[in-house]
Amino acid sequence: MRVLAGYATQEGHTAEIARRVAAQIAAAGHAADLLPLRKAIRRAPSDYDRAILAAPVHLGRYHRDLRRYAARHADTLAQMPVLFLSVSLSAAGQDAGDWQGLGRVLDGLAAATGWRPARVEQVAGAYRPERYGWLARPAMRRVLAARDPGADPRKVHVYTDWAALERAVERFLAG
Ligand SMILES: Cc1cc2nc3c(=O)[nH]c(=O)nc-3n(C[C@H](O)[C@H](O)[C@H](O)COP(=O)(O)O)c2cc1C
Repeated sequence: MRVLAGYATQEGHTAEIARRVAAQIAAAGHAADLLPLRKAIRRAPSDYDRAILAAPVHLGRYHRDLRRYAARHADTLAQMPVLFLSVSLSAAGQDAGDWQGLGRVLDGLAAATGWRPARVEQVAGAYRPERYGWLARPAMRRVLAARDPGADPRKVHVYTDWAALERAVERFLAG
């Protein structure tokens, strides 16, 4: 199969997720195309047998590149097998309100683009203080303290469950 591993990223973690996903697709014997969605937007998704799209949540919505891609290709995406990896720090915790918030972020995507992904994997992202500007840094410190009390806010914290992600991709490729 030819599989698109398309991603959007702000601080780089979703790019790392997509790189690993593309490596897994290739290891399973398929042709993997690892592409930022900003570039993939010019190609028809129907060039691929399947797509795995990954995007992070920032301030309650998905990355602009994903929204643009979804809006442009909503009809095609609805008709092909797509696994959407929703990357966030909400998914790193067990807070019911946070998880309901992720549902609303998906509703917002559908309302803004016309695409509602049928298969969604909520993936815990990363805290990367060196990538935050002065405005985001104090807010992200509070987010970290709420979700992972005791974590050192000066260090990088990766919450992604790589094994769970691998299983989700495996199920998608097999299904
Ligand atoms: C300014 C900013 C806003 C964020 N807003 C949210 C949010 O609303 N909900 C959430 O669950 N995570 C939020 N996050 C966490 C990101 O989704 C998480 O760090 C993710 O791993 C970022 O992926 P990226 O490195 O690919 O950009 C935010 C992070 C930053 C820096």
